[in-house]
Amino acid sequence: MTTHKIALIPGDGIGRDMVAAAWSVLQKAAGAHGFGLEGTDFPWSCAFYKETGAMMPADGIETLRSFDAILLGAVGWPAEVPDSVSLHGLLLPIRKSFVQYANIRPHRLLAGVEGPLKATAFDILCIRENTEGEYSGAGGRIHQGTDDEVAVETSIFTRKGVERILRFAFEQARARRKKLASVTKSNAQKYSMVFWDDVTKQLSAEYPDVEVTSYHIDAMAARMVMAPETLDVVVASNLFGDILTDLGAAIQGGLGFAASANINPERNAPSMFEPVHGSAPDIAHLGIANPIATVWSGAMMLDHLGEKAAAAAVMKAIEAVTASGIGTVPGKDKTDAITAALLAAL
Ligand code: NAD
Ligand code: IPM
Ligand code: MN
Repeated sequence: MTTHKIALIPGDGIGRDMVAAAWSVLQKAAGAHGFGLEGTDFPWSCAFYKETGAMMPADGIETLRSFDAILLGAVGWPAEVPDSVSLHGLLLPIRKSFVQYANIRPHRLLAGVEGPLKATAFDILCIRENTEGEYSGAGGRIHQGTDDEVAVETSIFTRKGVERILRFAFEQARARRKKLASVTKSNAQKYSMVFWDDVTKQLSAEYPDVEVTSYHIDAMAARMVMAPETLDVVVASNLFGDILTDLGAAIQGGLGFAASANINPERNAPSMFEPVHGSAPDIAHLGIANPIATVWSGAMMLDHLGEKAAAAAVMKAIEAVTASGIGTVPGKDKTDAITAALLAAL
């Protein structure tokens, strides 16, 4: 029997309940499909930071490297640890160290979920660059606290980084409806974004079967609300992709539905699966967070591990549950009730 070794990082806030819920569903799917999932829990979080002074141990990345995949809940508890410390101490280094350069975020309506656009059908696959760009962490502040203060945050776009994410997106588009939307702000940002548009044009010659259109980020934000059905694969830089995928979550009915996979396409390090949402401090103690985003992310993990039938079964269970009206309206059903329904549907 194949057993996949999974690192579990529940993290902060609702992350803990979301990973527990998803893990029970994934375990049941594994049992039914004849493979094993061996989970190892890592308590790395803001609470861990308060105890130890670090978000993860110094050898944390090396520890994670031996796993087949990582399932993460959410990182961040801004009331106690600044986000700039917690995210740069755990989530972002994992994405970068394991070269998880392709962040895949699907946006579509699940059966029975109406969403704010009143059931306009759409099926968008956002591909977000996940290792560089606006998240490069290069910059600084001078004359801090004075009237002359200056802060600089440098976006770094490399040919290697831009080319590989665009190539990945072209391949995804080729495997779907052969339509790619590339998102920039090249009317205002004349170096990085014009460079991105140039590489898009260069690569499009290699993919004559894919229809590629360049959009500005502002226009794309409007299009995702006004005409989401015109979109298929959407590729964007790190920050633009971050923003568009919370918008994508909103049109699919809420943050509780939006899944994500941080993929290392070369498979020379583990990939990481997590919902698009964060630790949701506003509802963290209420037991009403929707686990579907994390369960769906778990299905993406099973798919990545080659367990296609189990992944499909989990997706089928999700849609059976939402079709029955459970978990479709934010806050209506308890996390435990949605999880129980998912387990029953499996
Ligand atoms: P958030 O995504 O945690 O919450 C935004 C809104 O969505 C809140 O109203 C919340 O209640 C709701 N929501 C989120 N998940 C939900 C779910 N499963 N079911 C129902 N409603 C849900 O964003 P935020 O409030 O900006 O961030 C809170 C913390 O999480 C911050 O520290 C932030 O940096 C961090 N964060 C982490 C990640 C991550 O770990 N990948 C992602 C986003 C934000
Ligand atoms: C996400 C989150 C993170 C990001 C934050 C918490 C650093 O918003 O995964 O979408 O911006 O990548
Ligand atoms: Mn985000």
